Amino acid sequence: MEELVALCKRRGFIFQSNEIYGGLQGLYDYGPLGVELKNNLKSSWWSSMVYDRDDVEGLDASILTHPDVLKYSGHEDTFTDPLVDCKSCGLRFREDQVPEQCKKEDLTEPREFNLMFKTNVGPIDDGSSFAYLRPETAQQIFTNFKNVLDSTSRSLPFGIAQIGKAFRNEITPRNFIFRVREFEQMELEFFVHPGTDEKWHKEWVLNRLEWWVSQGIDKSKIQVLNITGDELAHYSKSTVDLMYEFPHGLEELEGIANRTDFDLGSHSKNQDDLNLTSSVPNNVSSNAKLAIQDLENKKLLVPYVIEPSAGVDRGVLAILNEAFNVEKLDDGKERLVMSFKPHLAPIKAAIIPLKKNNDDLVSMAFKLKSDLQKLRLGRVVVENTGNIGKNYRKHDEIGTPICITIDFDTLEKNIVTIRNRDTMLQQQLDIGDVLDYFKNLLIS
Ligand code: GAP
Repeated sequence: MEELVALCKRRGFIFQSNEIYGGLQGLYDYGPLGVELKNNLKSSWWSSMVYDRDDVEGLDASILTHPDVLKYSGHEDTFTDPLVDCKSCGLRFREDQVPEQCKKEDLTEPREFNLMFKTNVGPIDDGSSFAYLRPETAQQIFTNFKNVLDSTSRSLPFGIAQIGKAFRNEITPRNFIFRVREFEQMELEFFVHPGTDEKWHKEWVLNRLEWWVSQGIDKSKIQVLNITGDELAHYSKSTVDLMYEFPHGLEELEGIANRTDFDLGSHSKNQDDLNLTSSVPNNVSSNAKLAIQDLENKKLLVPYVIEPSAGVDRGVLAILNEAFNVEKLDDGKERLVMSFKPHLAPIKAAIIPLKKNNDDLVSMAFKLKSDLQKLRLGRVVVENTGNIGKNYRKHDEIGTPICITIDFDTLEKNIVTIRNRDTMLQQQLDIGDVLDYFKNLLIS
């Protein structure tokens, strides 16, 4: 983990947030390369969830959330962690994360600590008008269920996907970007007929596992864990966690839950008319029935929900960990190479003019950059330092799949040299063929 954190800072993937003022615990900022990597991961998820399917719509809802949403969802009462104080060192910990040096006899009895952040809404700050920063993106998908249904005329099964920030006042944020207080989630709420929920749950577990493998995660480092008994969230009939071998240990990367009709039911009015199967709080505030008309018997039906919910930041950490490779070279030296899948690589190609002060070489490099950039397949840069070896090393370390050298053969014969990050092999190509080569590399 230390090596990865150091690389992230040195090369501009991830920085401690608010660092110049001593930092704020549990918050991180994504630098020039990190933002590209993160965007690429999110865009890959969005493509596979929304564009490649015919049964999912997208949503981007507000972060500030009406207190009633989180009251009826159960978060106000149950979204808590047990907190203990150590009377010796004066620090507070989550009960299961007390460090060894704190003695048992110094700890207070655990008390429940709600993880939601609250903020004031509007100009009066007397606690009468507040909102929560959402602790999961899911709830605003449920509250928009009817809006999406009515505006798209969808029928079951269908899903609503959302990517966005979530906030949790974690008692002990830790392990770099693994457990943080501000993070992003990629969540799908997939609405199905009750009775088909278990089949869909299994299908989504397989789908999500395959997707992570297609992002470059080694399948043997993911374990599928069935959550049972007390470990299940209050809304869940069954949950499967995809556990990944992070640098600090085996931990949850994504959870896939069968949320039954709990959420749509709990946010509905006149719940007695809805034949709900789950036990929901009596809702006296909602003005909607979050239900769909059953095409067979014309009665209102509350769909069951299958929810694959992945953390973007944990995804980025897993991808960084998988990509990180220190290779022994034939000459006994080592090279650090980040072997990202090309579609995730922060920079797709680096174009290197052989000499930095040669106008013809440099302008040809910028012309090629502009042509490649127009394909809109990701970021392409020109490295105008004149040191090819140094640039190869730098781009291995940040995971750029190819470097393209512009030299005098390019001026005279239209030939460029393409150097592959993984094999380190170089091949010559007519400059007119570079666009197709680049498209083949990135479009699979
Ligand atoms: N809507 C369901 C839900 O939020 P969760 O298991 O609490 O379920 C889903 O969170 C995913 O969000 C987790 O699998 C994890 O990847 C990510 N996540 C949760 N808490 C996090 C935190 N404090 N820091 C980073 N990622 C977190």
